[in-house]
Order: sequence, then C-alpha cells, then structure tokens
Amino acid sequence: MKHLCSVDDLGGRAGIEQMLDLTDSFVEIQQRDIPKVPALRGKTVVSLFFEDSTRTRLSFETAAKRLSADTMTFTVGSSSVKKGESLLDTVQTIEAMGVDAIVVRHGAAGAAHRVASWAQASVVNGGDGRHEHPTQALLDAFTLRRHRGPSLDGCRVAIVGDIRNSRVARSNVKLFHELGCDLTLVGPPTLMPERLDGWPVSVSYDIDEVLPDVDVVYLLRIQRERIDQALFPTLREYANRWGLTVARAARMKPDTFVMHPGPMNRGVEIAAEVADSSRSLVTEQVANGVAVRMAVLWSLLGSGGPVV
Ligand code: CP
Repeated sequence: MKHLCSVDDLGGRAGIEQMLDLTDSFVEIQQRDIPKVPALRGKTVVSLFFEDSTRTRLSFETAAKRLSADTMTFTVGSSSVKKGESLLDTVQTIEAMGVDAIVVRHGAAGAAHRVASWAQASVVNGGDGRHEHPTQALLDAFTLRRHRGPSLDGCRVAIVGDIRNSRVARSNVKLFHELGCDLTLVGPPTLMPERLDGWPVSVSYDIDEVLPDVDVVYLLRIQRERIDQALFPTLREYANRWGLTVARAARMKPDTFVMHPGPMNRGVEIAAEVADSSRSLVTEQVANGVAVRMAVLWSLLGSGGPVV
C-alpha cells in the first residue's frame, strides 16, 4: 500500500483484518510507561489540513510522534493559501522540504486522490468532502471488535442521521460490509444520498422501528456546514424524530453499543446522557484512533522494519 485514500486501498477483508490485527501491537505500545518506539525515526509526516479537525489531526500527529517520526503541521488559516497559492503549489512546496507522508483533509471530494497523483510521498486521506474517511472506519471497526470479538460477521449496525453529507458513512459502509456486518441506514429521506445503487444496505426512515433489533447504533452529526438548504424543519424536530434520546436508548437491547465519530451535537443527534452512558464507545473510539493511525503510518512508511 503506497497511499490510503479510500477503504478500497486496504485490499478487501484480508487487508482490513491485517491492519486491525497490527493495531493491537500499537495498543500495547501505548500502554507502556514510555509509549514511544523508534520505528519511523528519520521519517517526516506532515498534516495538511484545509478543514478544521480535532481528533484526526491530533491523533495522526500523536501517532507519528510515538513512532519517532518528525511532524510538520499545515493549517490553511496561517498559510500562503490565503495569498492564493494553489493546492498543487502547496503540495510541491511541502514535498520540496522532504516529507515521507502527507495526511490531507480537504473540503473537496477527491482531493486526497489528487494529492496522491502529484506526490512522491505516501498520502493518507484524513477526510475529503463528502467522499471518504478511511481511518475513521478502521478505528470504528477496531473499537467494535474489542467489544464483540474478532469477528463482526452478522453484527447489525444502524447508521443514523446525515448520511448524504457524510464521508464517515461512505467509508464505514464499505469497511463494515467487508467485515460481514448487516447495515441499515436510518434518517429522513432528505438526508439520504440521492442514489444508493450498489450500496450494500437496507434503508429505514423510522428509527424506532430499527432500534430494538440492532447491535450498534452509529450516529452521525448533522453537518450544518455542508447543508445549504432546509432539509428538515428545525434541529428540535430532527432531535424528536431521529435523535437518540434517553427514552429511545431505553428501548435498545441491553448490549447495544452507541458510537459516534465526533464532534457530537449533544441534544440533536444524541442526548448528552446517552453520549456519557456506559453503552457509549465514543471516548474509546478516540483513544483507538491513535493506535490505528500508528498502524497505518507504520504500514506505509515502516514496512520491512520491526514495530518495536
Ligand atoms: N471524526 C473526526 O474526523 O473528527 P475531527 O473532525 O475532529 O477530526
């Protein structure tokens, strides 16, 4: 694997499972008193973020540092993009400084592929528009496997909310399907993709019909920054019809898990009490994000050498 722009780059179920198994080694490293190994000494990882991020950027930077790589951070607000520099010129400028991996987040679908087509360095997609967010899908599957055992075959997952605007939904549908999950998309018709041809999913517009039967409720944020028209009456109406309220959570099976990629809109797609409950894996998802990204960076830059 030279780049990770899409779940497709992981090489199907075998490749995904290999990456999840590898992640276990990095969880162990993180539990040490000094959670750092020399595996990527001499390598440089740059985070090239044209959109805001807390989890993805910090966890990639933490992952790179724990592998002893050098890191560089690009933020659009303090860069020459403000003076009109193009994406191509930005990539060429960063590459001229000598980098081995570029983690890119961009508002345009396909931006990571485009950067990969120009770059000598390995490129990791940290989220491109409504397209994909493959490391989010990996960390979600890793988190779920830790609770349900290594096999996710037959695991019933409801992905609820703003599917239309979600890159997380696209990557998670692909990856969870590869691992054998049974997927249902839930939300208002206006937040479903215009076409679902080829998506290996069922669709429901009624969360109450789906909740009692699923093993995982995966909630998505209403992405107000990508919604330019009224797709539902009000946020309060959305919370009433599709939000995971305390009353709805009480109707789930006792062993149903709640997941969310973050950032959460508490009181909209998820009640604060549910987000903070023992069913919620949200904090674990974030913690596992570092180990997953260590595994990804090591796979791209360190293969052939020892992990430890
Ligand atoms: N889940 C996720 O991508 O979060 P950030 O936008 O904070 O990186």
